[in-house]
Amino acid sequence: MKHNIYKSWAEPYKMKMVELLKMTNPVQRKKAMQEAGYNTFLLKSEDVYIDLLTDSGTSAMSDRQWAGMMMGDEAYAGSRNFYHLEETVKDIYGYKYLIPTHQGRGAENILSKILVKKGDIIPGNMYFTTTRLHQELAGGKFEDIIIDEAHDPDNEHPFKGNVDLNKLERLVKKYGAKKIPYISIATSVNMAGGQPISMKNLKELRSYTNKHGIRIIHDMTRVAENAYFIRQREKGYERCSIKEIVKEICKLTDGATMSAKKDALVNIGGFLAVNDREVFEEARNLVVVYEGLHTYGGLAGRDMEAMAIGIHESVSNDHIRARVGQVIYLGEKMMEFGIPIVKPIGGHGIFVDAKKFLPHIPQEEFPAQTLAAEIYLDSGVRTMERGVVSAGRKATGENYYPKLELVRFTIPRRVYTQAHMDVIAESAARVYERHEQIKGLKMIYEPKYLRFFQARFERLK
Ligand code: F0G
Repeated sequence: MKHNIYKSWAEPYKMKMVELLKMTNPVQRKKAMQEAGYNTFLLKSEDVYIDLLTDSGTSAMSDRQWAGMMMGDEAYAGSRNFYHLEETVKDIYGYKYLIPTHQGRGAENILSKILVKKGDIIPGNMYFTTTRLHQELAGGKFEDIIIDEAHDPDNEHPFKGNVDLNKLERLVKKYGAKKIPYISIATSVNMAGGQPISMKNLKELRSYTNKHGIRIIHDMTRVAENAYFIRQREKGYERCSIKEIVKEICKLTDGATMSAKKDALVNIGGFLAVNDREVFEEARNLVVVYEGLHTYGGLAGRDMEAMAIGIHESVSNDHIRARVGQVIYLGEKMMEFGIPIVKPIGGHGIFVDAKKFLPHIPQEEFPAQTLAAEIYLDSGVRTMERGVVSAGRKATGENYYPKLELVRFTIPRRVYTQAHMDVIAESAARVYERHEQIKGLKMIYEPKYLRFFQARFERLK
C-alpha cells in the first residue's frame, strides 16, 4: 500500500464506452439452464448478466490497445507487430526467443511435443487441465508436487503455490532426473485458487534443479498477479516494482508458456518463450504445422500489437493493485456473509468451497457443478466448476477425485464495477441460505477430452 497515497483500490482508468447487459427473469434462466444441460459452459453469453466464467480473453482493452489494433501490419511474414511483441517479451520478461501462438494451449502443445517423451514424468505445482492433457498426450505423466497446504481450502499459508521439494526429491530418486524433462511451474496457481509461489521457494527449486540438470518451464499466465502477492507478503520485496519482480521470476526459469488472454489483457493470443536455442529452433519448426508461420503463430498482426501493449500495462503497479483489490473486495464481502471460500483470497477470482457449501451432496453428484448452476438460476451470474468434472479421468479411465471441489467466481480485468461485486456476493448469500434444499446432478453426456467444457447433466430428484 505504501506506493500509493490512496487507501482505496479504485480503478486507475475511466469508462469511454460501455456494453449493455441483458437482464433475465427466473423463468428465462430456468429454461436456459435446462437447455445448457446444467453446464455453465453451454449457456449462451446473451443469457448471462455478470459473466464470471473466466478471466480468460474477457478483459477490457485500453484505448492504447485499441489504437494499436489499428496499427496492425497484416503481412503473412515478418509483421512489424511481431517484432514489437518480441522486443516486449525480451524487455518485460527477459526470455530470449519468442514463438507466438493463438493461445496458451497452442504453446503447451508445441512445448510438450518437443520436450516430453513416452514414459517421462512432469512434476508440477498442481495440474492445469490443458497443460496436463498436452503432457499426457505426448506420453508423459504429471505428478503433483505442490505443498499439502494447497489442497486445504482453509489453510492460510501465504504461498500455497509453493513446491514441496521433498515430494520432488522422491520423484527424482524413484525415476531418475533423466526421466524428468522439466518441472512445470505455474505462477498464481489457478486450480489452487489463484495462489502464489514465493520467490524464496522458486530460488530453492532453481538451485535444486540446477544440481540435477532439470529445466523449469513457467506457466506465466498470471505472473503479474503472483508478483503482486510477493510484493505484499514476501520480505525484501516491499519496495520492488511489479515489473522488477516479474523479471526476477522469469529469470529463475528456462522458458514459459503464456496464455496472454489473462494477465496480458487481450482477448486472444499467447506464446512460447525459451532461452534454449535448440528448443527454439524445433519450436519454430513445429509452430508452422500447428499454428501458423513463426512470425504470427495463428494471430493477426493487430492481435500481436494489442498483446505487446497489454504486457506493458499488465505490470503497472496501479493496474495490478486495483485488479487484485477488486477480487479481495468480493472475497471479503462473501466471507462477511459466511460463505466458505478458499483462503487466502487469490489473484483472479473467488473460489467457493462447494464441499462445505453443499455438505450433503457427495462428490459423485458434482457439488461444484450443482452450485454453479444454482448461482446462475438465482441471479444470472455465470461461474465455473473447478472440481471433479474439471479433473476428468486418468489414462486408466478412473475418475480423478480432487480434494478441492470449487466454484470459481473469476473476475475479468477492468470490466465490472464494485456494485457488480455486491450483486455477486448477495446472490451467493441467497443461494447459501437455501443450500439444504439443493439436490445434486447426474452426468448424462461425457466427452472424451476436457469433459467440463461440453458435459451435460440432469438434476437428481
Ligand atoms: N495455463 C493456465 C494456468 C490457465 O489458466 C490456462 C487457461 C491455460 C494455461 C491455457 O491457456 O486457454 O489460452 O489455451 N485458463 C482458462 C481459465 C481457460 O478459464 O482458467 P488458453
